[in-house]
Amino acid sequence: MPKRQFSPYELNHLKKFGFPDPDPNTFGEKPVEYITGHAEFCEMDFLVNSSTLIPRLESEKIIKIATEFIEKHQLSHPAIADIGTGTGCLGISIASRLAKKQTPYTIYLSDTSSEALKTATENAHRLLPSPVNLFFLKSNLLDDFPHIKFDVITANLPYIPSHTISSLSPSVKDFEPLSALDGGANGTTIINRFLNQLPEFLSFQGVAILEINDTHNLDSFSLPPAVQVSIEKDVFGVPRFLTVSPKS
Ligand SMILES: C[S@@+](CC[C@H](N)C(=O)[O-])C[C@H]1O[C@@H](n2cnc3c(N)ncnc32)[C@H](O)[C@@H]1O
Repeated sequence: MPKRQFSPYELNHLKKFGFPDPDPNTFGEKPVEYITGHAEFCEMDFLVNSSTLIPRLESEKIIKIATEFIEKHQLSHPAIADIGTGTGCLGISIASRLAKKQTPYTIYLSDTSSEALKTATENAHRLLPSPVNLFFLKSNLLDDFPHIKFDVITANLPYIPSHTISSLSPSVKDFEPLSALDGGANGTTIINRFLNQLPEFLSFQGVAILEINDTHNLDSFSLPPAVQVSIEKDVFGVPRFLTVSPKS
């Protein structure tokens, strides 16, 4: 087996979190974030572990879309939900930006994984000045949510088609939780069930922002009636986000 070569980014990351002279033979293909237990997202340091996906750079655009939406619609106390929160990176980053602008908010962070929710809770306490209006909820999609109409719902749910998981790089398929990756037969099973629940929970002026696979397009999804939708690109120019709002 050829010896692993750490990239300059990986070496910097390892050094920053206490591995100044890492031996590449020790870690196999393990991502450096799982070695150190830390990952950077939106310039914040999130704790990660084997129960949580490593936050991805491309997902940062969800924060931009969400915060610009809140500003544009002058929402003075937005109700926000982050479904499939993992480390909490999406919900906590939005909360952090709103806290900096002294905009009050209420935010629900949910996941099916108790371990992920534990990590998200820890991250919120580490990263937010006062995590008072944050609620953590174990829920399969919106099944156990209170009947609230949310202004912004973010959802980076599993979207990889089951049959392609085995062709992912070992650093992903051997280390990241399958429950964070596997989106069923076409990769749309979980997202379609979520889309079906959405109208009941989205305010008339609200938006849902979903991360999607770059092989999906509007025809891939079972969209609820009376919504307007768009697909936006990520920083790499790849179609990556589905936005859904009630038709005005
Ligand atoms: C792709 S990861 C995203 C994690 C995080 N939001 C991020 O952007 O890095 C998907 C997350 O959804 C959770 N999940 C999977 N199925 C779910 C379901 N039916 N309801 C709620 N969460 C689910 C997984 O446990 C995982 O934490």
